[in-house]
Amino acid sequence: MGSVRWAFRCGPWTPNRGEWLLAARCVQREEKDRIGQFVFAKDAKSAMAGRLLLRKFICERMGVPWSRIRLERSPRGRPYLAAPLKVSSDSGGVWSFNLSHQGDYAVLAADQGVQVGVDIMKTTMPGSRSVPEFFRIMTRQFTVYEWGIIQSAGSEHQQLAAFYRHWTLKESFIKAIGTGLSFDLQRVEFHLSSEPLTQNQPLRQTKMYLDEEKEENWIFEESLLDVDHHVAVALGPTDKPDSSPSSLPPPTTFTLLSFSDLIASASPLMEEDPAYWDSFKTKTEGPQRQRETHTSRQLPVSH
Ligand SMILES: CC(C)(COP(=O)(O)OP(=O)(O)OC[C@H]1O[C@@H](n2cnc3c(N)ncnc32)[C@H](O)[C@@H]1OP(=O)(O)O)[C@@H](O)C(=O)NCCC(=O)NCCS
Repeated sequence: MGSVRWAFRCGPWTPNRGEWLLAARCVQREEKDRIGQFVFAKDAKSAMAGRLLLRKFICERMGVPWSRIRLERSPRGRPYLAAPLKVSSDSGGVWSFNLSHQGDYAVLAADQGVQVGVDIMKTTMPGSRSVPEFFRIMTRQFTVYEWGIIQSAGSEHQQLAAFYRHWTLKESFIKAIGTGLSFDLQRVEFHLSSEPLTQNQPLRQTKMYLDEEKEENWIFEESLLDVDHHVAVALGPTDKPDSSPSSLPPPTTFTLLSFSDLIASASPLMEEDPAYWDSFKTKTEGPQRQRETHTSRQLPVSH
């Protein structure tokens, strides 16, 4: 069974003209257009890094030449490989992959024979709101038990860290099943491992309860990419009869990639578009008063 955990630090990435135009040539046209519509550079960079991570993974690990990869999205937005339909897979089983980008990173997680969801969140103060006010708005996302754990975590910063830890767990599950926010988040409850999270030492002890039943068939890998970026990878059974994450190899740590790594296997899919750089260089990095919660993300109107 194969396992891939890749991360790219898109926050500090300041692409030059050549890098940005090359990146734009190496993703599908509709994705290039979508990325071009982001108001802020931080969102354009993380979406671009996400596309390059996906294509690099499919090319290098699934063995599909870059120019033959055709990605589409499910009705709920999850990217999947639409073509080629037949990909020779070794005995490890069918690959499942997923992306997340938030804070300073874009991450990709992929495994064989299970379904995968990944979520990353940076522990940040909630912009202009106080922590209690922020938690009040989020009340319905967590159960009474989970709020008890979050609010007894210590200082406001520790409470926020506990909040984002739960958040990444819930999101990773939602992303593994691919439903998006149509899923009632009160149905899942996480019981955290008592071991503290550390950088690049994934824990697998946290347990999920679904409709109050402990789910033995799901595994959650939690780690910190750095002191304030929580990442969770959900690994669940597929609809194939023998699929179970219990036979997975030990957890793999995230590998930090450079831009050169991202495009190492890339081949351009279209001509260079100088106007794409002209537009990118006019974008400001992010909103002046940056609130790094999902709810503040600035999406293009057509998204
Ligand atoms: C869309 C959603 C699946 C994830 O959104 P998100 O957490 O803002 O975004 P992330 O950075 O983790 O992931 C985005 C990536 O996930 C992938 N994705 C999109 N829809 C997906 C879906 N339905 N299932 C799985 N993956 C999906 C895409 O690759 C996307 O990146 P791209 O559009 O650049 O290709 C959805 O769960 C959502 O809108 N969440 C909002 C946040 C929220 O309120 N969460 C409450 C948690 S307690």
